[in-house]
Amino acid sequence: MAKLYINEKNKLGHINEEIYGNFSEHLGRCIYEGIYVGENSEIPNTNGMRNDVVAALREMKLPVLRWPGGCFADEYHWKDGIGPKETRKKMVNTHWGGVTEDNSFGTHEFFELCEQIGCKTYINGNVGSGTVQEMSEWVEYMTFDGVSPMAELRRKNGHEKAWKVDYFGVGNENWGCGGNMTPSYYGNLYRRFQTYVRNYNQEQPIYKICCGANAGDTYWTEEVLKTCFENTPKQAHGLMDGLSLHYYTVPDTWEDKGSATEFTAKDWYKTLSKALYLDTLIKNHATIMDKYDPDKKIGLIVDEWGTWFNVEPGTNPGFLYQQSTMRDALVAGLSLNVFNKHCDRVKMANIAQLINVLQAVILTDGPRMLLTPTYYIFHMYKYHQNAELVESYMDGVKEIGEDMEFRVPNLQESASIDETGTMTITINNLSVSDSEPVDISFAECKPSSVTASILTQKMDAYNTFENPDTVKEEAFTAFQVTEKGISFVMPACSVIQFRVK
Ligand code: AHR
Repeated sequence: MAKLYINEKNKLGHINEEIYGNFSEHLGRCIYEGIYVGENSEIPNTNGMRNDVVAALREMKLPVLRWPGGCFADEYHWKDGIGPKETRKKMVNTHWGGVTEDNSFGTHEFFELCEQIGCKTYINGNVGSGTVQEMSEWVEYMTFDGVSPMAELRRKNGHEKAWKVDYFGVGNENWGCGGNMTPSYYGNLYRRFQTYVRNYNQEQPIYKICCGANAGDTYWTEEVLKTCFENTPKQAHGLMDGLSLHYYTVPDTWEDKGSATEFTAKDWYKTLSKALYLDTLIKNHATIMDKYDPDKKIGLIVDEWGTWFNVEPGTNPGFLYQQSTMRDALVAGLSLNVFNKHCDRVKMANIAQLINVLQAVILTDGPRMLLTPTYYIFHMYKYHQNAELVESYMDGVKEIGEDMEFRVPNLQESASIDETGTMTITINNLSVSDSEPVDISFAECKPSSVTASILTQKMDAYNTFENPDTVKEEAFTAFQVTEKGISFVMPACSVIQFRVK
């Protein structure tokens, strides 16, 4: 029996809605087919965007979308993606399958998509193969409402009003695909490039994100911060609002990552243990950030995370198309709880990627669309968005797993309270085989209304286009409301969300 103590009186920080963000790259079938099918497609669409996909993302309450990459961002030249579609330049997508990119989805289409979804915008600029002028002009094109060459060009291309860029990334993975730079070299470039990311609208300042580390590379974090803070007044925060971090959960090696759907219980625990390593990573990078930014003004932006497996057999290796099972659902559930608990530092996170790529929330096949188990986690957790994290402690947790190196707790949780006083509690049972009785106790709350939903299935279950509802969020009613809380048995391999008033 486990006991979950929740002290709803002790609010620990604000959970930014952006923690539930997503990432969309010109990679495989993410943008083309997944989102954008063009106005003339037989697939029902609005201005080229799939209606089914947009409706599902609205229902999931997608708060922010990152675009156009990824590695693609550092070879993307935005002017190729504006103006009449028939004259847009075609290019080779060298990173992802060497396919022809016809640039029919560009800046205008991205903003159209975000408007339809009702989400914030996160644009990633090109440092690796771009120029300061190119980046600066893109910002002017998107955000300047006055008289200027780029604002005029935007108007000529059919958009009178400036758009709102909420977040702007100055390069992506510049330690790797974004130019193979050293941290001090990038740090200096960051200082220079970000200078020209102008805030044309003072009331809507752009949140500038500096390229951070890959996984455990604390050397990068230290050196970039050192470079960006050098001779910079403390209050200038190293000239950045956010610093990114990328971490993928890869069960085996990068050469052979393992199958998305065929795995053993041992692989299951290994994967979940690697997902939980996020907690350590955030602590390690945050410790360095604390040295430069003790007031935590700079957000840690985990703008790429999720599982990365071998591609589905028979699909283009450059398209990174993988299925999503209950194992992915647990990875998402655990990771989002970790982000919630680090909401003092983690201000945004963007799972990779939105559709048909890596740990996608949606898969498509021609006109067909399915929601993955990962989708349902985001749907169940959406009530944490903009709520306050509250203190929670799980007592009686067991260490489980077949391999001593990859042991995990059997239960993991986070809890928040929103402005209406409604609590959201999300709990994961990581055991593939054992259910667990759980008693939740609140500090003061005597619940008057409790609803819950659950995602549970066998560990390798997933949805197909033929059977899209194998794994599905369902109402959960097998709980008792007690004097001080809630008592229930948590099935093996499950994620439960409670809403408590
Ligand atoms: O998400 C796929 C790729 O992973 C991104 O393009 C890159 O930033 C990362 O290496």
